[in-house]
Amino acid sequence: MLWRLFHSSKIGRYLATGAGEKSWALVTGSSDGIGKGVALELLARGFNVILHGRNATKLQRVRDELQARYTALSIDIFVWDASQRLEPGGVDLSRAVLDCVASRRVTVLVNNVGYTSTYHSFTAQDPMEIDMVVNLQIAFLTHITRALLPTLMSHAPGLVLNVGGLTGRFPCPYLAVHSGGKAYLSAWSRALAIEMELVHDPPADVEVLMVDVHNVSSNSNSSAESFFTPSAETMGRAIIDVVGCGRRQVTAYWRAELMAVLLNLMPASWMDAILAKEMISMRRRETEKQQ
Ligand SMILES: NC(=O)c1ccc[n+]([C@@H]2O[C@H](COP(=O)([O-])OP(=O)(O)OC[C@H]3O[C@@H](n4cnc5c(N)ncnc54)[C@H](OP(=O)(O)O)[C@@H]3O)[C@@H](O)[C@H]2O)c1
Repeated sequence: MLWRLFHSSKIGRYLATGAGEKSWALVTGSSDGIGKGVALELLARGFNVILHGRNATKLQRVRDELQARYTALSIDIFVWDASQRLEPGGVDLSRAVLDCVASRRVTVLVNNVGYTSTYHSFTAQDPMEIDMVVNLQIAFLTHITRALLPTLMSHAPGLVLNVGGLTGRFPCPYLAVHSGGKAYLSAWSRALAIEMELVHDPPADVEVLMVDVHNVSSNSNSSAESFFTPSAETMGRAIIDVVGCGRRQVTAYWRAELMAVLLNLMPASWMDAILAKEMISMRRRETEKQQ
């Protein structure tokens, strides 16, 4: 954790300076929550931003709100329901996102969008919902990254920031498919990071960083802000702050890292028992709210 004292964000590396067009960042799931927090931080640091979401009206409203604050920068939107089934090879998504970025100097991709399902035992989960989680947490982010990597490489240096959750490290009952999706993100992100750094021929100057977040007060998480629960804007800043830290996977917020360190000290059987108890009570609270 002490490395944080000596680290300052290297996000400026991905911001083109000089006479040409400013760099662009595309942030998935940025009409709300952590994604909006990340988009705000990128605007504050001088990037043009493409906001992604599924609701055109809401995206337009958020775009107007942010544009009023950052009049010198450009903000665009990319509308795509990330939970929908893709055509084989993700060709429909690739076509749409490449049309959207067109000749723009995109140097940053933030894979933030994630699915917030309700708490189910796996056998009771609607198979259609399982498809939506898999589409969103695996297919969408994999194919959007595959489509945009050549653009990021051509404008190198480039950055792929992947926002994960501690469920990838500490899988939760009642969120089995969600936890599996986050574990996929973690393994895929680290493999891609190694590929970019050590294997790609010719060498690709693209940083791939997996950023774990824990409890964040957001649209999908009604927890009040507290010592361990930051606002989405605070988390957005914390995510951008860890860019260039020299690791392939990192916990964004120091207080969440403190919690992860403590959890890691615990024997796995204790951890599982605590998580099981916690998830049973969260599910009970959710059921009571729905009644
Ligand atoms: N909040 C936490 O405590 C927490 C903890 C661990 C990990 N995370 C991860 O952090 C990321 C962001 O979570 P958050 O809490 O900020 O969520 P949020 O407040 O619910 O925001 C989610 C964003 O993604 C968009 N979105 C949701 N489903 C979509 C779909 N099918 N297609 C396109 N866009 C979609 C939402 O659009 P709308 O505005 O239309 O809803 C919104 O912009 C997720 O990957 C989540 O798993 C969050």
